[in-house]
Amino acid sequence: MTGPPLQTAAESQQKPLSILSLSRKEFSAITDLARREFGVELGPGKEQLVAARLGKLMRRLHFSSFREFYDQLQADRSGGYLVQLIDSLTTNHTSFFREQPHFDFLVERIFARREADRPLRIWSAACSSGEEPYTIALVAQEYFAARAASLPTILASDISTHALDIARKGTYPANRLQQSFAPWLRKHLLRGEGRWEGWFRMRPEIMSMIEFRRVNLIESFPDLGRFDVIFCRNVMIYFSHETQSRLIQRFANTLNPGGYLFVGHSETLTGMQHGLEHIQPAIYRKRGIRK
Ligand SMILES: C[S@@+](CC[C@H](N)C(=O)[O-])C[C@H]1O[C@@H](n2cnc3c(N)ncnc32)[C@H](O)[C@@H]1O
Repeated sequence: MTGPPLQTAAESQQKPLSILSLSRKEFSAITDLARREFGVELGPGKEQLVAARLGKLMRRLHFSSFREFYDQLQADRSGGYLVQLIDSLTTNHTSFFREQPHFDFLVERIFARREADRPLRIWSAACSSGEEPYTIALVAQEYFAARAASLPTILASDISTHALDIARKGTYPANRLQQSFAPWLRKHLLRGEGRWEGWFRMRPEIMSMIEFRRVNLIESFPDLGRFDVIFCRNVMIYFSHETQSRLIQRFANTLNPGGYLFVGHSETLTGMQHGLEHIQPAIYRKRGIRK
């Protein structure tokens, strides 16, 4: 990994990390790295956010100056520091049933209208700590189990190893259960006892529907196969228009004919070449019928 020289020796005075202040060069070094490695744009106006998150990370890793941290980041061939940088700079905010109309559409228009009893393949790209793929699995289990039909298989991916670790555990504190869906979720989840009082856990049959993997969306996809449904919500907002365009094109190529792409409600594919049909807000479909 290469980067611009950050400071002269005279400039490189150590700063107390509790009030980490980044020079313009240091800020650009980090934002260039974030753009290059994981596509995330941290433009002007994000200086304080970046400084605060970086300060916290450097404290945790026991670095006493930005220079020291950045040198280590460059020297580290394992990519371990880069992963931790990504984890600290990206936002993992998510919730069960986030943007609920998408889950209504999934059940009423995709599950209910599927042609044959073959298992659907669904990808939750940028799944964060797992609430999105578990919501998909839970509504799918309710729908298909009642009809004795095959359950979908779900791939859930993210760039953040920390978020994926939480997702793989499938265990959430009660305050993570979305208020309006809490009774429904409580009914479907296992309730913790003893020292797990106040926690809820996914049932094994729900967990077994999902495979978790680390995938960086700005790199070419590993061999993931084709999907009937892709959720890629609330991550493209961090990417440049060009990065978004390339990603959407790759999603379009990865969908089966007739497959659906869901994006976040504040994201749009306007101005991009993708060949997908706009169905309703934040939902797109690839033309054709799967044989
Ligand atoms: C705000 S969360 C969205 C979670 C979920 N899709 C939702 O809508 O609730 C954004 C996620 O995108 C992930 N992310 C950021 N850059 C990424 C990249 N280049 N490749 C894959 N995931 C990325 C972050 O780690 C974070 O978990």
